[in-house]
Amino acid sequence: MNREFLELIKTRRSCRKYKPEQITDEELQAVLEAGTYAPTSRGMQSPYIVAVQNPALREQLAAMNARVMGTTSNPYYDAPTYVLVLTPADANNPIQDGSCVLENMMLAAHSIGLASCWIHREREMFSTPEGKVLLKEWGLPDGLVGIGALALGYPDGDPGQAKPRKEGYTRVIR
Ligand SMILES: Cc1cc2nc3c(=O)[nH]c(=O)nc-3n(C[C@H](O)[C@H](O)[C@H](O)COP(=O)(O)O)c2cc1C
Repeated sequence: MNREFLELIKTRRSCRKYKPEQITDEELQAVLEAGTYAPTSRGMQSPYIVAVQNPALREQLAAMNARVMGTTSNPYYDAPTYVLVLTPADANNPIQDGSCVLENMMLAAHSIGLASCWIHREREMFSTPEGKVLLKEWGLPDGLVGIGALALGYPDGDPGQAKPRKEGYTRVIR
């Protein structure tokens, strides 16, 4: 195993404080492309990835997510970019496909000095009429289910160290 890659995996952290400065288009494209190379069930490339940088739309998405969460704070931590992942509900393995995409993008982001955090509740957000209108506006097909999203941007501060791994996390049966 490439040790640098292993180190990258170990040092990725969920970031909950972002600089307001927007990431570059090159950085965004690198992260999105990494998402598109995730493994997918039967190689169907079932997920759709939607990056949102528009401030009014980010505000709308934050309000939708906060409503599901029952909070008034921004669940995307005021990151300058949100990356949503949605998958057809009738795909072979919609959650697994979307999750692989999200993890690829988190690692890619970390590898180029960006910070990210998986943000939940997109399933509920995009099952509402408001969510369905957005999907239509974005030219996406009917029948998508929200899998998750990333808050993405430059970290504001040090996100800290990983917790120690639990006892018995792995075993090798020979
Ligand atoms: C399925 C899933 C949902 C998550 N949802 C949220 C979320 O809504 N908000 C949040 O701040 N972090 C969320 N996280 C991030 C976890 O809290 C985080 O990965 C965990 O605390 C471990 O920290 P680390 O990512 O820095 O290793 C989510 C992670 C996963 C895998």
